[in-house]
Amino acid sequence: MTTLVAVGAQWGDEGKGKLVDWLAPQAQLVVRFHGGNNAGHTLVVDGEQTVLHVVPAGVLNPGTVNLIGPGVVVDPAGLLAELDALKERGVLRDPSRIRLSGRAHVILPWHTALDKAREKAAREFAIGTTGRGIGPAYEDKVTRRGIRVADLLDPKELRTALDRLAKQKNFELVEHYGGDPIDVDALYEQALEWGRRLQVYVDHTAHTLENAMRDDRNVLFEGAQGTFLDIDHGTYPYVTSSNCVAGAVCAGAGIGPTRIDRVLGITKAYTTRVGGGPFPTEDEGEFGEKLREAGAEFGATTGRPRRCGSLDIVMLREAATVNGFTALAINKLDVLSGLGDLRVATAYRVDGKLTQDFPMTLGETERAEPIYETLAGWTEDISGCRRYEDLPGAAQDYVERVEALVGVPVEIISIGPGRDETIARIDPFRPA
Ligand code: IMP
Repeated sequence: MTTLVAVGAQWGDEGKGKLVDWLAPQAQLVVRFHGGNNAGHTLVVDGEQTVLHVVPAGVLNPGTVNLIGPGVVVDPAGLLAELDALKERGVLRDPSRIRLSGRAHVILPWHTALDKAREKAAREFAIGTTGRGIGPAYEDKVTRRGIRVADLLDPKELRTALDRLAKQKNFELVEHYGGDPIDVDALYEQALEWGRRLQVYVDHTAHTLENAMRDDRNVLFEGAQGTFLDIDHGTYPYVTSSNCVAGAVCAGAGIGPTRIDRVLGITKAYTTRVGGGPFPTEDEGEFGEKLREAGAEFGATTGRPRRCGSLDIVMLREAATVNGFTALAINKLDVLSGLGDLRVATAYRVDGKLTQDFPMTLGETERAEPIYETLAGWTEDISGCRRYEDLPGAAQDYVERVEALVGVPVEIISIGPGRDETIARIDPFRPA
C-alpha cells in the first residue's frame, strides 16, 4: 500500500487533473481534501475532454472510488450537475464510487452572491476570485455558522441553520452591497432537494479511507489550486481560502501525517497565474503571448486568459520546503518546443539585495526582480516521446537543471494532454 499526495507547486493550473487521472488506475481511492468548484481539471481521454470541478479525477477509471473529504466546500447544484453529466456519459454507473463527506461544508447562494458583490466593490483591490463563493463559505465554516452536507439530510436542523444564517447574510447582501435578498423559504425547499439527491453519496469518509488503507489499497490525494494560492503559504491576500499544501491532507481528509508515504509536486515547465497578485517572472511581452497560445492558457473554470512567464525556481524551492516534495512532475514540457532559448529564475533581487528565498511579504514579492539563468531550447516536437531517452538532449538538460536547482528528482514528465503523453522515470506507487 502506498499513499501519494499530489499538489500544485505554483499558482494552480499545473495540470494536476491530467496527472491524477494518469496515476488513478494504480490507486483504489482518489481523495479531494480542500477547495471546491473553484478548481477546474481538464482531462483528455481517447480524445474526449472532461472538465471536473469537485469530483476527483479518478472517476474516469472504473475501479476507483472517489472521495470528497470534510475539508472541501461543496456547491450542491454544481456537484449534482457534474455527476449528472458523468452518469449521462455512462462513466458513473455505481454511486458508491463517489463518497461525499457529511462534514463537508455547503456553498450556498449567499456565498456566491457575496463573493461577486465583494469583488465588484473592491475594484482595483479585487482578488480576482473565481466567483464560486469559496471564501464566504470557508468564512462561515470558520465562524461556526456554516451548513454541512449532513444538515441537508435533516429538515429540522437545516431550517434552523438556514434561518440563523439568513438574517446575517441577507443583511450584508442588501444593506451593505445593495443586492437582492435570497428567499429563505425557496432556498430551504431547494436545499432539501439537494439533500435527497446527494444522500446516496454521503459517507463518513475518514472511515472509508481508513478501511481502504487497512485493506492495503493505494490512495492518491488530489490537491487543488497550488502552493502559492495557499491561505498561509501563498501570496496573501491574493490566495484562495483553503490550505493547498500537502499537510492539508491530514485535516481535510482525516489521515495522520505518519501515514503519508510520498508527496509529488506538480509544476508546469513554465509559470502561469490567473487572477490578481504578484508574479515575479510574468512576461507581458512576446514570450508570454507565445506561451499562452502554445499552452492554450485559458482558465478551465472561468475561461480567463492566464498570465504567463518563465519557470521560477525560487518558487519551486519554497514549494519543496513547505510541502516536503519527494518528487516533481513537470507538465507541458512540449509547450516549450520551438520557443528558442529558455530562461529560468534562480534568485531574486529585492530592494537591491540578492536572495534565493521566496519573500515573506506581499510588497517584497511585488518588488522582486528575477535573476535568470539561460538554458538552450529545442525545436523538435516532443509529444511523441515515450521514454526519457527519446527527449532531445536540450530538453533532458532542462529537466536535469530544474532537478539540480530545486534539489528534488523529476519523476514524471508530461508532453501532451493525453494519458499516453506521459513519461515516468520511476513508478510513483512503488512500495515505500
Ligand atoms: P477563489 O478560490 O475563487 O476565492 O479565488 C482566489 C484566487 O485563487 C484567484 O486568484 C483565483 O484565480 C485563484 N484560483 C482559485 N482556484 C484556482 C484554480 O483551480 N486554478 C488557478 N487559480 C485558482
